[in-house]
Amino acid sequence: MSELPTSADTGALGSGRSTFRTSVINLDRPGDPSVFDEKTRLDAAELKSRYPAGQERSALLPLLHLVQSVQGHVTPDGIAFCADQLGITKAQVAAVATFYTMYKREPTGDWLVSVCTNTLCGFLGGDEIYNALSEELGVGHNQTTADGTFTFESAECLAACDYAPVVTVNYEFFDNQTVDSALGLVQQLRDGQRPMPTRGAPLCTFKQISRQIAGFYDDESALALDANGTGPQTEAGVRLAVQRGESAPSYALGADGRDGTGDTGDTMPANGVGAGTRSDQPTSQHDAPLTTSGSDPAHPAKPAGEEAK
Ligand code: FES
Repeated sequence: MSELPTSADTGALGSGRSTFRTSVINLDRPGDPSVFDEKTRLDAAELKSRYPAGQERSALLPLLHLVQSVQGHVTPDGIAFCADQLGITKAQVAAVATFYTMYKREPTGDWLVSVCTNTLCGFLGGDEIYNALSEELGVGHNQTTADGTFTFESAECLAACDYAPVVTVNYEFFDNQTVDSALGLVQQLRDGQRPMPTRGAPLCTFKQISRQIAGFYDDESALALDANGTGPQTEAGVRLAVQRGESAPSYALGADGRDGTGDTGDTMPANGVGAGTRSDQPTSQHDAPLTTSGSDPAHPAKPAGEEAK
């Protein structure tokens, strides 16, 4: 069994994390929201406008991605900017920013390379891939190469176990990796190429993907809108059920036509198209691959039935 990163040599559980926390809540450097330009302020206003009046603080997650897209990580300035924009305290912002691993607290390279070392990927070669890439890049978990090009990390399950072992670059999937293919992937990036992910959108830099995750699709990210997030393995069960004409019973509905779970199915159709409730469809359809942009008014979902083609 190969060696996995330890807190001693990578900072995964030790110094890296404590540095992270103090870097975000730095009493000596409280943060200056004025470093963000007018465009960022307009973008922040746009994000806030997407939430109901009085609930603008819900825009904190995309706002953190926005400041990360500008500065490459969440800095004390970014924390102060978010707090300023939302009328909440910096401690509240920092509490959120330090909870999610997608908010980086140290300068991050153009390419965030994440290797899944969770159970399935680890057993199928993820550990070896991690160690090989760590040696090749000369960095450990949560560390960035000296030239600032790559940030490297081991990741918990990336929700792609059916393609294990998986590596992501800026959250785009490279499925069924081997040590050789992963080393080749890094070499291509070093050579200035942008290898096409197995699934998903074309690669863009870490700052660009942070902007997309914040909720902005500029010209450069237009191709992301047509990207398919699933593949044959993921869809196999649903396709077989469709072939056989099988479906699961729908949820029982109350007198008001709602299923009573209080989840998004009560208020938004599962496929993001048209009006209706889950009574419109069997649960097997509800579980089918969906277009996640369906709830984005700027990018309406394709007509029902087209998304799985
Ligand atoms: S264990 Fe690696 S994606 Fe789930």
